[in-house]
Amino acid sequence: MQDNILVTKDVVKRFGGLVAVKKVSVEVKKGEIFGIIGPNGAGKTTFLNCVSGIYKPEEGEIIYKGESIKGLSSHILCKKGIARTFQIVRSFHKMTALDNVRVAVIFGSDQVHDPDQRARELLEFVNFPLPVDTLASNLNTVQLKYLELARALATDGELLLLDEVAAGLTPGELGDFINLIKKIRDSGVTVISIEHVMKFIMTICDRIAVIHYGEKIAEGTPEEIVANQLVMEAYLGKEHTAKK
Ligand SMILES: Nc1ncnc2c1ncn2[C@@H]1O[C@H](COP(=O)(O)OP(=O)(O)OP(=O)(O)O)[C@@H](O)[C@H]1O
Ligand SMILES: [Mg+2]
Repeated sequence: MQDNILVTKDVVKRFGGLVAVKKVSVEVKKGEIFGIIGPNGAGKTTFLNCVSGIYKPEEGEIIYKGESIKGLSSHILCKKGIARTFQIVRSFHKMTALDNVRVAVIFGSDQVHDPDQRARELLEFVNFPLPVDTLASNLNTVQLKYLELARALATDGELLLLDEVAAGLTPGELGDFINLIKKIRDSGVTVISIEHVMKFIMTICDRIAVIHYGEKIAEGTPEEIVANQLVMEAYLGKEHTAKK
């Protein structure tokens, strides 16, 4: 369908004998915030790694803007508009925040005339809380997340993949992050967000897919997901949710 920016069909990714992703199919609409939740080790990051070109799935299909992208490398997908953050934040520690973003601008976008100016705009857009010449090695986890987001946006992506950006935030920081992700979506970027923080997921997502042992066990609006028996069992265990 035309209003889907990303479609995956029966994606399978194995590590030796372990099937980390089992026939996962999703349809992500242009302009939505699509959440992916599931217990630790469920296969969420592995699935996202298949979409962003870090892994090539053994089976299935991945279609981005109507074109098959299965097996294309991350840097080609980045040029096509798929940007991502990492569960473990990656930055160049010996460089300033500004230089970190400038490198991403130069790498990710061919059309920028003034990378320095663009990098400053991006840091301002994400409300980076410190002077832009602060060394990345001096940033705390939360400040690094802002930097990571600015770097991801530097590639002018149309589809932004987030892996646990809300982990470890205080309630106040979480509110700021929720507003920021909404602002990113409102700027025209479709967002897929893996998250454990329920407030983030429930407040921000249009739809949510739940992955458990590599399989998609549910999909729906936040309200549908909290009311889903299978999801409750996946999180709490059957014995806690069985009707007495
Ligand atoms: N490179 C790898 N080699 C072998 N096994 C892997 C590799 N990456 C992930 N796995 C395994 O695949 C399964 C899914 O891992 P994955 O990291 O995708 O889970 P996740 O849902 O992102 O979990 P978390 O919420 O803890 O981040 C786990 O059993 C994990 O140990
Ligand atoms: Mg993960």
